[in-house]
Amino acid sequence: MKKLGVNIDHVATLRQARGVAYPSVIEAARICETAGASGITIHLREDRRHIQDADVYELKKTLTTKMNLELAATDAMTEIALKVRPEQVCLVPEKREELTTEGGLDVVSHFDQVAKCARLLSSAGCEVSLFIDADQDQVTASVNAGAQAIEIHTGHYADCLNGSEEQLAALDKIKKICHWAKITYPKLIINAGHGLTRQNVQAIAQIPEIHELNIGHAIVADAVFVGLKDAVKGFINLIYPE
Ligand code: PXP
Repeated sequence: MKKLGVNIDHVATLRQARGVAYPSVIEAARICETAGASGITIHLREDRRHIQDADVYELKKTLTTKMNLELAATDAMTEIALKVRPEQVCLVPEKREELTTEGGLDVVSHFDQVAKCARLLSSAGCEVSLFIDADQDQVTASVNAGAQAIEIHTGHYADCLNGSEEQLAALDKIKKICHWAKITYPKLIINAGHGLTRQNVQAIAQIPEIHELNIGHAIVADAVFVGLKDAVKGFINLIYPE
């Protein structure tokens, strides 16, 4: 069965917007795990715009599933991961000015640095995943760099108009790369994520070679509407007690 890793970065975004202690990422992770998430994904960005170092250490103590820690492929971030020792580390590209992770990691161009991080992390017992575009050269470079897993960036597919020719072409490209990667590297774990919503997730979830999906922004966004009614009722009950 496909697994769902829930990315809780944007629970932290909400907290950081006010610089307060709520909403708690620990509680968010607990709810996601209770609801059936197979793992919790967090991205410790170099600019610390959402998840903070203390969150990573606290979550490592409290998670009952697994931690998938997303990091830039730098020596400093690898050092943090070596201290935390999450079950999984996903190396991602990072630009300070971007709104979110735009495009996959260019493993071909940054092979030596990625391979160095992957080697250190693997020897510490972390499963190493590389967040890459749907491209054969990137898959091969990932395997040669020592990754046990890849995560295919679905952002371009997700940005296309639902049902458009462009989206079908993007989907076809993802399907073909997953199929090719599984045949060429049978042991490689293939995950996917970025930009997935209730409207576009099913076609990706049906790709047989995909092991795990990582979804964050749309789940946190949906949670606002799923929970808004009860949140307002809760305040009304406190303001006008019977
Ligand atoms: N996978 C990776 C590697 C990511 O960097 C992100 C975003 O941090 C996601 C999945 C989740 O993307 P989204 O928040 O758009 O669902």
